[in-house]
Amino acid sequence: MANIKFYKHEQIPLEMHKVKIVQELKLLPVDERLKKMTEAGFNTFQLHNGDIFLDMLTDSGVNAMSDNMQSAMLRADDAYAGSETFYRMKDKLTEIFGIKNCLPAHQGRACENILATRFVKPGNCVIMNYHFTTAKAHITRLGGHVEELVKDEGLVSKSDLPFKGNIDLKKLEKCIKDEGKENVSYIRLESGTNLIGGQPISYENMKEATKIAKKYGILTVLDASLLQDNLYFIKEREEKLKDKSVREITRMIADLFDIIYFSARKFGFARGGAILVRDDDLFHSMEDLIPMFEGFLTYGGMSVKEMEAMTVGFDESMDMNIISQGPQFIEYCVKKLDEYGVPVITPGGGLGAHLDASVICSHIPQEEYPAGALVCALYLCGGIRGMERGTLSEERNADGSERFASMELVRLAFPRRVFTLSQTEYVIDRVKWLYDHRDMIGGLKFVHEPKTLRFFTGILEPTSDWPQKLVEAYKKDFGEDN
Ligand code: F0G
Repeated sequence: MANIKFYKHEQIPLEMHKVKIVQELKLLPVDERLKKMTEAGFNTFQLHNGDIFLDMLTDSGVNAMSDNMQSAMLRADDAYAGSETFYRMKDKLTEIFGIKNCLPAHQGRACENILATRFVKPGNCVIMNYHFTTAKAHITRLGGHVEELVKDEGLVSKSDLPFKGNIDLKKLEKCIKDEGKENVSYIRLESGTNLIGGQPISYENMKEATKIAKKYGILTVLDASLLQDNLYFIKEREEKLKDKSVREITRMIADLFDIIYFSARKFGFARGGAILVRDDDLFHSMEDLIPMFEGFLTYGGMSVKEMEAMTVGFDESMDMNIISQGPQFIEYCVKKLDEYGVPVITPGGGLGAHLDASVICSHIPQEEYPAGALVCALYLCGGIRGMERGTLSEERNADGSERFASMELVRLAFPRRVFTLSQTEYVIDRVKWLYDHRDMIGGLKFVHEPKTLRFFTGILEPTSDWPQKLVEAYKKDFGEDN
């Protein structure tokens, strides 16, 4: 995909796969969508998938599997203990990452629970380039806190910097000194970042950050959930590594860390997770937590079929033809929206295209959740489901006041090998329409607000009848059935 050139046509992403099984989609009429959105409490997590035309909520567990992944599922070895499937998976991970100790877990946040439970004590700090919602929730649950030290440029929405997920090395050293090295449970680097636009971190930055960690004797943890996109960006953007293969780069990255964990709902294109631990003693000190929270040590809550599929998926994540598809579709979408003037995070990152709701909906105060409102408006005006990544996804401060997110984003995820370019064009078209009608979008307020991870189950309502008015404007341009 990465290198195929066109003759007369503009350069567009070209799929290096063909479709073998399809799922029919339907687009509910716009009035129906308003009804469904109201029933869902203006929270896109609460929508039913059957009521959605293009589901761009996430790439988690919804990437298309390959024929090789599906066929591998047939040889899954069912056993409570000692499944051959586990050993095949573990051997593949050892081959790729060079670490032989593997703790299976049912998904990424389960790995985060195990890590936090083992290492975080009340008053401890975990340093990160940027947090991820579930990673942070487990740490704060245990009385720890998170310090996010992404470089300032990572939070600038429009930019042409190649690695906006880099951690600020000066701040890192200062933070270790301020907190006291014995109070830092571990340093977690996320490659690439989820909440700030899927922006990658460079190999060089990971090397320098882990060097500092070693100097102070602090444990280093890599969250590799989004590694496949990050590998693509390192290969494309990091000059010094352009002649290295994806496998070589992966191994160079892995060699920097004590622990690597990932959600296999992303890395591996299946559903599951694992923690790889370099040191034998450390590994044994974590082992008992797996049967307690996940399942026996050779399945960790995963289905053996999924484990077989992800073992093939790990190999596919080392293939540039495969890992380029997400970032290239995202770049195409971001470029077209940017050309039209829609505020988007640039350069395009991994995971999805990110709309900058703080600019698009600058008329909505942050306490009325501009990104939450924009994501609902996009479902109304196109049946497209995105995800709010802003203040709604934060938790309140201890005193009950809002903790305003540093960025107000709407994420339009591109699950791998799922959507075609014409569907991408439809998304671009509807976002343009909404952008031209942005002044009609109003705020949201909570009706029911859970204390933890409120964005999953919270129920909201609009602050006025703006959804009805927006739908009327939409019908004028597209009719009742669109
Ligand atoms: N780390 C990162 C960087 C993630 O993006 C995710 C999940 C996790 C950890 C947790 O993994 O879902 O398997 O428990 N991100 C999903 C998303 C939920 O939609 O961005 P999980």
